[in-house]
Amino acid sequence: MANVRAAHVRRGSGSHEGLPPRPTCVILTGKRRSPQRVCRAKITITTMQFKFDWFIVLENLRRGIMVTDATLDPPAGPRILYVNRAWLKMTGYGREELSGKTPRILQGRHTDRALLRSLKVKLINREVFHGQTWNYRKNGEPFLMNWYCYAIYGERGKAIYYVAEQEDVTELNALRMRQRLLVNPQDEEAAAFFAVLKEWKAIRKAG
Ligand SMILES: Cc1cc2nc3c(=O)[nH]c(=O)nc-3n(C[C@H](O)[C@H](O)[C@H](O)COP(=O)(O)O)c2cc1C
Repeated sequence: MANVRAAHVRRGSGSHEGLPPRPTCVILTGKRRSPQRVCRAKITITTMQFKFDWFIVLENLRRGIMVTDATLDPPAGPRILYVNRAWLKMTGYGREELSGKTPRILQGRHTDRALLRSLKVKLINREVFHGQTWNYRKNGEPFLMNWYCYAIYGERGKAIYYVAEQEDVTELNALRMRQRLLVNPQDEEAAAFFAVLKEWKAIRKAG
């Protein structure tokens, strides 16, 4: 996990893809600000852009962030390299438990396999994935994961990391699905949604 931090800090001094372009400005010199005294030398405002700790920002984002290596082949890939605090809170895992693990630890009975296949295809085709599926917290509780996933590319255009921005949208969806059931009590998708939550309640009660 320390590697990712180092990578972010290093990027601060480079001109990498994905970072905002370095703006340049024209400075005024001399006592009188006449047009003739405009210094034409352009300076780069590096310090203004990168003089903060990327790691602290990542750790305090409200959305879960997961970074993996850029391999997709099971069973080892994609290997989890970093998750932020919001991600740990959402899933119930501790950082020490994630060493050598893949995001598959979140999958279970109701995880949408077709969606995962489409994720793989998108990443291979260098596209951005967006989708929702049931995932499972460490204690087995299902939650609806909404996530974007994409590659971060190195200077030679090769994927070096996969990044996922993830959030639990179970409550939001429960509201939507409740409304749908009010309009149409036969709504199969809405019924299936609540069946998953009901199943978990029964498991908890039994255990
Ligand atoms: C950055 C990243 C984050 C991922 N996060 C999740 C996740 O939260 N939940 C999930 O079910 N799969 C997630 N996956 C997908 C799995 O790791 C895996 O790629 C997927 O199961 C398809 O591969 P498989 O068919 O070999 O299992 C993620 C993949 C990547 C690259």
